[in-house]
Amino acid sequence: MILPIDRHVAPQRLRGRRVLLTGASSGVGLAATRLLAGEGARLALVARRGDGLRRTIEEEGLDAVVIAADLGERAEAERAVDRAAEALGGIDVVVSNAAAAVFGHVSEVHPDDFDRTVAVTFTGAVDVIRAALPHLRASRGTIVATGSLMARVPLPTWSSYAAAKHALRGFLGSLALEEREQGTGVRVAMVHPGPIDTPLFANASSATGRKPRVAPDAYRPEVVARALVEAVVRPRAEIVLGGETRLLDLLHAGPRPLASAILMFIDRWYRSGDEDATAPGALWQAPHATQLSGGVPSRGSLLAPLQLRVRAAPDVRVPVAVALHLLRAARTAVPLAGRLTRPIPEQPPPDAGLRRPAPRPADAGQVTL
Ligand SMILES: NC(=O)c1ccc[n+]([C@@H]2O[C@H](COP(=O)([O-])OP(=O)(O)OC[C@H]3O[C@@H](n4cnc5c(N)ncnc54)[C@H](OP(=O)(O)O)[C@@H]3O)[C@@H](O)[C@H]2O)c1
Repeated sequence: MILPIDRHVAPQRLRGRRVLLTGASSGVGLAATRLLAGEGARLALVARRGDGLRRTIEEEGLDAVVIAADLGERAEAERAVDRAAEALGGIDVVVSNAAAAVFGHVSEVHPDDFDRTVAVTFTGAVDVIRAALPHLRASRGTIVATGSLMARVPLPTWSSYAAAKHALRGFLGSLALEEREQGTGVRVAMVHPGPIDTPLFANASSATGRKPRVAPDAYRPEVVARALVEAVVRPRAEIVLGGETRLLDLLHAGPRPLASAILMFIDRWYRSGDEDATAPGALWQAPHATQLSGGVPSRGSLLAPLQLRVRAAPDVRVPVAVALHLLRAARTAVPLAGRLTRPIPEQPPPDAGLRRPAPRPADAGQVTL
């Protein structure tokens, strides 16, 4: 039976492979956990939400070692890798997927929040991969990283995240060549998705105090998780996943003024959100529950099966879903037109980063003895 790419039946191609997956407690990582387990992999899962992830794994009857760690701290990242290698008896595959972000223009984001985004999304990934490298060399293993369209294309309002993803792409490109030059057998792959229906952006820390407006159209997390699994099975340097992602990537490489106009429109779309953000946000504090979806209108991908060279039925609902999502976005945009056609004023620079939540009004002025 041939099913759409995100609904396939796992053929156990990774039976017994020892896989360390970061960012397993939410979105793409949670979807990848299910697919990797279905493929027969032995899993060590890393996230700050250790207890929640353990509960989810048990409820779903999956078997995995769960390691709670904050990857923004090098010692914790290294300890997580040691524990994974010990529990699994080595490591064949690292899927580096964890990330966190702060929302706001460069002049609105406090340096502490900027640096923390880089520490989790870039340096945290580097720390995990570097610590796992001796194990991967021993097993002639594979590194697969979740990149992003923002590893190749800039996006205002997410500069620290885009910078971290660009850096990760540079790091992994260099590492791949070093491993090849040394003949270690370690292979490196990156999957670059566009917007995905996960809680990443709704839970992001926000320098403006508001959440980004929900993206009009996104891929289902299972589409991206499936791409990660295919990259483990058949590593390829880079996959820019999905038609919408590929289009923006090509526009940025080609007619730059058109790409810039689209990116500035996306910036204003995000910045026109009215909903209050929760402080301090996921950059500094893990959200409570494990969660797959972020409530973004989502769909499959027509192009992904071809890109991944997998046999999958074309998801004929995709064009209809895209048309409906665009129609809904157009309806939302009409009353917002005034805000989307001119710059949205920036907030004054913050005095402090988001790590310390602002005192609640009831606490203000109180003296604690
Ligand atoms: N969502 C999108 O539109 C989109 C687009 C392109 C690429 N991506 C990429 O897709 C990957 C998965 O993200 P997602 O969309 O699935 O987001 P998500 O649902 O927010 O998941 C992020 C994961 O990273 C973990 N994480 C965050 N901060 C951490 C820290 N300090 N230490 C350890 N783990 C941490 C989270 O676990 P805890 O909170 O439990 O620690 C969570 O499991 C990321 O690499 C992201 O950059 C996402």
